[in-house]
Amino acid sequence: MIQFKTLAEKYDTPLYVYDFNIITENFNNLKNAFKARKSMLCYAVKANSNLSVLKHLASLGSGCDCVSIGEVNRALLAGVDRYKIIYSGVGKRDVEIKEALERDILMINLESEEEMYRVEQIAKDLNVTARISIRVNPNIDPKTHPYISTGLHESKFGVDLESAKKMYLYAHKSSALNPIGIHFHIGSQITETSPFKEASVIIADLLRSLKAINIDIKFFDIGGGIGIKYKDETPILLYDYAQAIFESLKGTDVTVLCEPGRYLVGNSGYLLTKVLYEKKNDKKRFVIIDAAMNDLIRPSLYGAYHDFELLDTSDEATSLVDIVGPICETGDFLAKDVLLPPVKHDDVIVFKSAGAYGFTMSSNYNSRPRVAEVALIDGEDRMIRARESFDDLIKLERDFL
Ligand code: LLP
Repeated sequence: MIQFKTLAEKYDTPLYVYDFNIITENFNNLKNAFKARKSMLCYAVKANSNLSVLKHLASLGSGCDCVSIGEVNRALLAGVDRYKIIYSGVGKRDVEIKEALERDILMINLESEEEMYRVEQIAKDLNVTARISIRVNPNIDPKTHPYISTGLHESKFGVDLESAKKMYLYAHKSSALNPIGIHFHIGSQITETSPFKEASVIIADLLRSLKAINIDIKFFDIGGGIGIKYKDETPILLYDYAQAIFESLKGTDVTVLCEPGRYLVGNSGYLLTKVLYEKKNDKKRFVIIDAAMNDLIRPSLYGAYHDFELLDTSDEATSLVDIVGPICETGDFLAKDVLLPPVKHDDVIVFKSAGAYGFTMSSNYNSRPRVAEVALIDGEDRMIRARESFDDLIKLERDFL
């Protein structure tokens, strides 16, 4: 039992709390599901990029999937082995490509033909060979929220099969490029195995046709996307998921590389908030809390549901409420039309499954300082990021007047 009330008092609210033991458990479960083959887990840093989270995952043997040089540098700083770091992303600046090549990470994941030529040129300038992978878009519907679907042809991600083939042929001949990986990522919060399976079959076919022409791909990167339970979802069985991938890879000896973000950290995290007050009009009851959409944007942005608990109450839930923040936007809510018992000032409400895409998507909108983060390690609490102050908010601004 986590002592949320004590933590709220000790560190103040709003506050993110992550249980590192749950991260360990999730990591081991996934690693275990893949144990029948060579595999590598590269945690998707975007889900939660706190250095202590990365350090913890590095200690378990995790690599990292990064989408900016900032994330690459975070991973390195946290002690992740450079040969376990991949750099993906639909747009990379020249300086980012250069830095990634200088850092000598495992591979750069290409998302367009033009990007391939940029990477080739920069590698030539540096006199190095760039290890690359190509993100292939298998045109599969992952059956998830449209904003987090990435594997359909109408999305901006990756290249189609034909273009990918041409790019591999080009890269194979180039002295500055070394194609070692093949990659797909079809979306996030996926709760069925079939889209993964379909995508994997398509990409494994491409892998085989590349092998047939002596393009020796070593890493089969299946992206991330494993869904978690927020409300009444039934997550996929990891064993089935791994078997579906293995099935498509029969007769090959590639290393399976997986880029889980949400699965590893999502359910480890909580957002602790306090009730400011409650108000009613003739239509609605609102509970106004000290956290807002700038702290956890998922409900506002995707209509996502985060389960919550009002602490220290034995009262029955009475009526429907919107739990809203202090930000001046109608879209600023953390829960809508939910049942809640009567509340009073300073009651603590804990939002669950907030470990992924919570803090990393937070902002300073309305000049609200970003909140503190605390880790629980074997039940012991440690602050892993301090609460921002007003000085932090203005420290980069210059007075031109
Ligand atoms: N690999 C790539 C190339 C990705 O783009 C992503 C996530 C992942 C791995 C990790 O996916 P995961 O295992 O976490 O599903 N902000 C949204 C999710 C955006 C996901 C973006 N890409 C949300 O809060 O639901």
